[in-house]
Parts: sequence; C-alpha cells; structure tokens
Amino acid sequence: MIKLSPSILASDYMNMGSDIKAIERAGSPYVHIDVMDGHFVPNINFGPGVVSAIRPITDMVLDVHLMITNPEKYVNAFLNAGSDIITVHAECDTDFNFIADEIKSKGKKFAVSLNPATDISVIEPYADKLDMILVMSVNPGFGAQSFIESSIDKIKALRDKYSHIDIEVDGGIKLSNVQKVIDAGANIIVAGSAIFGGDDVEANTREFIKRCNS
Ligand code: DX5
Ligand code: ZN
Repeated sequence: MIKLSPSILASDYMNMGSDIKAIERAGSPYVHIDVMDGHFVPNINFGPGVVSAIRPITDMVLDVHLMITNPEKYVNAFLNAGSDIITVHAECDTDFNFIADEIKSKGKKFAVSLNPATDISVIEPYADKLDMILVMSVNPGFGAQSFIESSIDKIKALRDKYSHIDIEVDGGIKLSNVQKVIDAGANIIVAGSAIFGGDDVEANTREFIKRCNS
C-alpha cells in the first residue's frame, strides 16, 4: 500500500482546518507538516503551535518535517504538540542519536531527510534507529518546484540498501511523475501543490491515492 502525505505548506491557510478534513475524508493516512526556520531554509512558516492545533481535529499521522537548524532544541516541543513522525535533516550539525532516543522513548517515529546533494552514506551511523528516510526531490524551502530527476537513482539505491524501511519522497510530485517514484522504491509520497492547488482538495486527494495504488 502506497501512502499519501499531503503537504499543508500548499494549503489555504485561512481554511487550513477544512483542507485537513478534506484530505482525511478522501482517505489520506498522513498529513505532512513542513516546518521552516528561515535559517536552515530561506523560508519561515509553522511552529509547534500549528501541530498542537491540528492534533485534536484529526487521527491522521502527523508527519512533521523539520527544516530547521538545531532540531535537538525543538524535538520535545514537537513531540508534546502531537507529532507522530519527526524528520530532521541529515545536513544538520546535531546529535542524531539523542534525537532518535527522545522520539522513540515517546513511541513515535524517527526519520532523517536527505537534500538532493547529500549522499545516502551519511545516514549509516544511525541507520539502525531510522523508521523512515525522507528523500528531498527538490531543494527544501518552497512548494511548487520541479522534480529533480536524479532523485530516482537515490531512491533506488536506498531501497536496495534498506529493503524494509519506509522511504518517503518529497517535492515536485504530480500525477504525471508519481509512478516512476513508486517504481524506484518509494512507499510514502508527499504532494503539496498537486493536492491543494485547484479547487477540489478532496477530489485531488482521492485521485492521487487511486493513482498511487493502481
Ligand atoms: C519543500 C517541502 C515539500 C513541499 C512539497 O521544502 O518540504 O513538502 O511542500 O510541495 P510540492 O508537492 O508542491 O512540491
Ligand atoms: Zn516536506
């Protein structure tokens, strides 16, 4: 089963609650919450308060993607806010084992994200603690960018090396290119503008889930 994780970075911020209920009605198991600090990436958006606001309105998996420097300072705030998966970036200068232990001590999932230029070897020191690997198929910071084709080889290499781990891919994924991402070995798909762009979020989500599992 391929899982969809719609990214609310692309949602209507004045109607975020109804957008979240729309993807839930359409059967999405996950919601992807991008967190940006204006330092690790050149954009600023959501904090733990947004996760806390979303937690009580849905049972979907809160898939929190921390594009922030010093994630070790904030991991507990995002855990306490209700995150189910916390992804930190492999490019951070941080203690990944501390972060992994904090997350797993609360029974939640620990993931690491690789930017397009980052080699898969960097995660080896803590690969045994990973519940998921997030492959960035765009350079992080903004939605509606173009898919970076070299991501396909990276996904294949990760799937060959880690046969049983969740591989999530994030950035520039549309109905037109999602199949090659799945064929390469991804089992969780992040999509933002493909889901929340246009006028029918629920229909977009249903169509995307159907395409991913056809
Ligand atoms: C980019 C974010 C992605 C982005 C995906 O930094 O991590 O989750 O929102 O948006 P689309 O699907 O529009 O590329
Ligand atoms: Zn993301």
